[in-house]
Amino acid sequence: MSTLFAFLHHLCAFTLVAAVAIEFTLIRSELTLSSARRLQATDLVLGVAAGALLLIGLLRVFLFEKGASYYFHSHAFLTKFALFIVVGLLSIIPTLEFLSWGEALTAGQVPAISAKKLRLVTGIIHGELFAIIIILLCAAIMARGGWV
Ligand code: HEM
Repeated sequence: MSTLFAFLHHLCAFTLVAAVAIEFTLIRSELTLSSARRLQATDLVLGVAAGALLLIGLLRVFLFEKGASYYFHSHAFLTKFALFIVVGLLSIIPTLEFLSWGEALTAGQVPAISAKKLRLVTGIIHGELFAIIIILLCAAIMARGGWV
């Protein structure tokens, strides 16, 4: 079971990273009908991967690995978990923006987004990419019990 959940954890993590990278590329290019639709679809994949990652990660913490007491005494795990939650909450802003495009997209129009909002959404997605680097570092440290 532990191996299965380790596999699922990596599968969801890689899917999440790919989705964030795709969103970053799409949001930095000119917004078109097709890129706006792809952004919406990619964000759905990102949301599902993040939800599954959280669930599988918690199952690993409580059931399959070194035990909750080990992880909740690990600074690396606490940093990784806190960063995941903060970035997850921040990612609600891009998600709400992409969802608000529904009507325009159904009508076959390119959605309107202000320059300020676009900067905010791009900045958050950029922050997600940066957070993933820190999360990967924390994952390696917590799995080995320290910087050894
Ligand atoms: C973007 C999100 C995440 C990424 C990219 C990620 C990545 C990773 C990676 C690469 C490993 C393997 C570490 C190694 O063996 O060297 C790992 C292990 C692990 N992760 Fe995550 N993870 C994420 C989110 C989470 C979350 C949200 C939780 C818990 C709620 C979690 C719990 C765990 C646990 C328990 C392990 C096993 C560590 C061990 O072997 O002791 N992960 N993660």
